[in-house]
Amino acid sequence: MAGTRTQADEAREAVVEAALAGLDLDAKARLLAGQDTWTLPALPGIGLKSLVMSDGPIGVRGVRWTADDPSVALPSPTALAATWDPELARRAGVLLAQEARRKGVHVLLAPTVNLHRSPLGGRHFEAYSEDPYLTGTIGAGYVNGVQSGGVGTTVKHFVANDAETERFTVNNKVSARALRELYLAPFEIIVDNARPWGIMTAYNTVNGTTMTEHHHLVNEVLRGEWGFDGYNVSDWMAARSTVAAIEGGLDAAMPGPQTVYGEALAQAVRNGQVAEAKVDDAVRNVLRLAARVGILDGAEPAVTEHPGPVDGAGLAREIARRSFVLVRNQGALPLRPNGTVALVGAAARDARVLGGGSATVFPDRIVSPLDGLTAALPDGALTYAVGADPNTELGVADKGFELRAVCRDADGNVIGTGSVPGGQIQWMGDDLPDGVTHESLHTVELTGTFTPRETGAHTFGIKGIGAFKLTVDGTTYFDDDQRPAKDDPFITFFGAPVPHARPELTAGEPVEVSLTYVVEFAEDIPMKVVAFTLSHQEPQRDADELIAEAVEAARHADTAVVVVATTDRVESEGFDRTDLTLPGRQDDLVRAVAAVNPHTVVVVNSGSPVELPWREEVAAVLLSWFPGQEGGAALADVLTGAHEPGGRLPTTWGSLADAPVTQVVPTDGELPYTEDVFIGYRAWEKEGRAPSYPFGHGLGYTEWTYESAKVEGTTVTVRVRNSGERAGHEVVQVYLAPGEPDAGRPARWLAGFAGVEAGPGETVEAVIEMPRRAFETWDETTNSWTFVKGSYEIQVSRSITDRRVTAAINV
Ligand code: BGC
Repeated sequence: MAGTRTQADEAREAVVEAALAGLDLDAKARLLAGQDTWTLPALPGIGLKSLVMSDGPIGVRGVRWTADDPSVALPSPTALAATWDPELARRAGVLLAQEARRKGVHVLLAPTVNLHRSPLGGRHFEAYSEDPYLTGTIGAGYVNGVQSGGVGTTVKHFVANDAETERFTVNNKVSARALRELYLAPFEIIVDNARPWGIMTAYNTVNGTTMTEHHHLVNEVLRGEWGFDGYNVSDWMAARSTVAAIEGGLDAAMPGPQTVYGEALAQAVRNGQVAEAKVDDAVRNVLRLAARVGILDGAEPAVTEHPGPVDGAGLAREIARRSFVLVRNQGALPLRPNGTVALVGAAARDARVLGGGSATVFPDRIVSPLDGLTAALPDGALTYAVGADPNTELGVADKGFELRAVCRDADGNVIGTGSVPGGQIQWMGDDLPDGVTHESLHTVELTGTFTPRETGAHTFGIKGIGAFKLTVDGTTYFDDDQRPAKDDPFITFFGAPVPHARPELTAGEPVEVSLTYVVEFAEDIPMKVVAFTLSHQEPQRDADELIAEAVEAARHADTAVVVVATTDRVESEGFDRTDLTLPGRQDDLVRAVAAVNPHTVVVVNSGSPVELPWREEVAAVLLSWFPGQEGGAALADVLTGAHEPGGRLPTTWGSLADAPVTQVVPTDGELPYTEDVFIGYRAWEKEGRAPSYPFGHGLGYTEWTYESAKVEGTTVTVRVRNSGERAGHEVVQVYLAPGEPDAGRPARWLAGFAGVEAGPGETVEAVIEMPRRAFETWDETTNSWTFVKGSYEIQVSRSITDRRVTAAINV
């Protein structure tokens, strides 16, 4: 339990107290302020090293935005949740801890456990589920795994950071009941079951108080009621005021060096605005974390023996195939042995393996579906056609570009050079090439070559704010200022690229490319950031012609596999979506291919729901999420039938017109959560609307017969038989439905689940423990949980709508 202290905790506590006693007010205040983008300062006097933090959920980027030190890229959080397997989440965490230790990182800025309140949320791909219990159990597995490797976590973003529009300022108005039953619930489950060493407070405001100052939710609920004893770090640039933040329980203000803590905090104590005891509490929390991760002399780290080495690529592949959700299969999968396959889709060749924003990492390789199937199928069995390009806008200059950054001073002297991942520069704080300082840096030139894959008019553009000069193949196309309107201080990361040049280029013939930026530092952010992007778009071939080519290929193959995808201009941190349609002509492509090939399999490469208007016209639909670096290999595993697709939907998939909760845009700065406790399947059921695919749905390659369910107390024992012809994995789901329908409560909710494996003909038992909380509601009049007595139906199901056995209970 969260509050139970072990002997080792007591021993660490003593070291923390002694270290605290060795600090004067200025040192304490300094410790609570970021010294740069990712670290807190070392205090050698008390034997404290600098604490290093890094993003994020699917990998450990480290403190630099370069590909020099690549990171294993696991499947995105929606994919991890689709495995419905907390043990697999724990193993993901163990790998991430290994990655963190390799990169000198002490604290991972993850997991994200906000909920899928609306499918339009831009960071949907980065959160687990619309269900708080599934989110909490996957999150707890993940946190246990990371921390078992001696690395801390900051469960984020506390709380109700469920959309991106006006994310720095939005006032989310959420009832106490919805907070308790939905948005706080995953945090509470994780505190109870994984004792996280950290939490990150969100940008947004909840019911009038910004989360970095939320005394009630942080001090009273998180620490007071739940017994959280970890460290509370602000989201990056979320801390706004010295006194309110320290009173509100914020321990560290990130990033630095300019923060509301440091000197300002020491001054507030001297002025009598803040009691020094409050500062001491925050310092204790930081020192406790430092002790746990092993950077405070004299304290034994929480983990002294690290788990054995994990094969990152192997685990990434295993999680990916376990996460793929087969939502429809009319006998098209697995592929027939020795059949021919027409692979279609831009994302089949240029795989989208992760979502945009702070969750980005740079893996050392990406296995695309084309790579994966080429390796898995016999020679001559596979053809490939683009079919349609989802990139309707420019993307980061990437394929075919060999670029480096050249830094110059005001006199034009080269003062340093650096490597860049594609055309994107994102240097925060001290993350500058060797020898370069903010003072000496005047221009950054991205320079190198581009070797086109296609002949035609290539579009080049720029994302960023300031003065730029863009030259391609000796011609300067732009030499001017670019100043987009901005409402997010991270606009240079998340804004739209502006096209500036369209030279005709020839496939295979390299040309010189140069983009020079005159560095300017924004005044409204507390750290110095150099960020801009060279953007590019391939020649836009006639869309009908592309589709016709793909149709020809599909006509002659036994199976057509069409990979459709979203882009980083659709799903990313920094903005919400406005629709759920697939970009470009991808829907037309699927329909055209399906019209000529009855064995058309569509692979949906997106992190969150998209509309699939043709879903009844194709033979199979497989959701592959953002599948991480080994996605293409995992896809081949599953398509060929070497492995079963193991995923179940962690969130309801349906059309935007039917989706019950779609409001993510605040009015006058406020976003009321008017749906209260009805989000996700709770809302679809209340509205009586049928989604495309319900929560919990997912097919495998075998059949399951549910034989019986026995309930004893709160334990449900389910017997299931693998009645198909091959071994398989099943996720047995238990929903709890009140016997007396009550309009104020959902019709049913997830109360437990368990994964089982069985060979053909075998019967196995799934034992599922329903938590007490499954029977409770939050009572706003008494401000407490109420155990709701009465009759319930236990519905043992394959998805929320596919009920197999039921049992009645009275509690
Ligand atoms: C994101 C956090 C992230 C932080 C540091 C913020 O913009 O909201 O999730 O950990 O940046 O990159």
